[in-house]
Amino acid sequence: MRMAGLRNALGCVWVALAVILVCDCTAARAADQPTAEQSTADKPSAERPRPQEKARRAYLGRVVAQPMSHLGAGWLIRPTREQEERPTESLKQLGLEPGMTACDMGCGNGFWTLMMARVVGENGRVLAVDIQPEMLTKLKQRTAQFGIDNVEPILGAVDDPKLPAGEVDLVMMVDVYHEFSHPESMLWSIRRSLKPNGVVALLEYREEDPRVPIKPRHKMSKPQIMKEYHKNGFKLVREYNDLPWQHLMFFARDDSPLEAIEPQPFSVQR
Ligand SMILES: C[S@@+](CC[C@H](N)C(=O)[O-])C[C@H]1O[C@@H](n2cnc3c(N)ncnc32)[C@H](O)[C@@H]1O
Repeated sequence: MRMAGLRNALGCVWVALAVILVCDCTAARAADQPTAEQSTADKPSAERPRPQEKARRAYLGRVVAQPMSHLGAGWLIRPTREQEERPTESLKQLGLEPGMTACDMGCGNGFWTLMMARVVGENGRVLAVDIQPEMLTKLKQRTAQFGIDNVEPILGAVDDPKLPAGEVDLVMMVDVYHEFSHPESMLWSIRRSLKPNGVVALLEYREEDPRVPIKPRHKMSKPQIMKEYHKNGFKLVREYNDLPWQHLMFFARDDSPLEAIEPQPFSVQR
């Protein structure tokens, strides 16, 4: 009787020890597991998993803007745009050369696509991506009107621009990034599309500058841009600070051979 009681007591002790050990290991594993956010962003390596992202209303403290409707496309090709934003000056800063593969992300009716297509020439191409088919229809009308045939229109999805991997020299994003409902998914695909020396050129209206006559939700500040791009595996490699309304910032993949720089703070006194 006494032996059986002892065996029972020992059995209970083993079970208790096993339970404690298993619980401890599970807790330690849970603490080691990256959160969903960490598993997609924050990783400097080339092997970042494709984000599993739902549509966002806000991202890292910024409210995401609604995409501009194709019904307002006329505003994008207004005659005063050159004088207001000086796009010809920005175009010169892009470093585009004949034969390059460029992307106009969020191309709208192609104000930028056409200018870029002329620079990369017949041996180059411009991948023109938009999520509104109506915008791509207007773009095709304009390329036909001006006899431009090195543009490939691409109907993107809100979380996938359908770009080929490792083929793009420059991804231009003019007044569009702040409209992405899935910023991490878009940046993941854009990052994957770049050649090793490829760059993203980001043009956004300056939030820090009250003189810029654009709705606050369609503006971005430099610190906010830096926060979002750094989190998604990009580094700042160049900037141009002489435009009347916009920030022009160039980002490369964080594993690119290009050297990182610090952003120059914006001051209204400039
Ligand atoms: C304000 S317009 C700018 C058009 C053009 N970049 C320009 O400056 O003339 C923004 C465009 O981005 C597009 N857009 C918004 N989200 C997008 C996404 N996830 N992928 C591709 N295009 C997007 C909109 O449909 C719209 O045509």
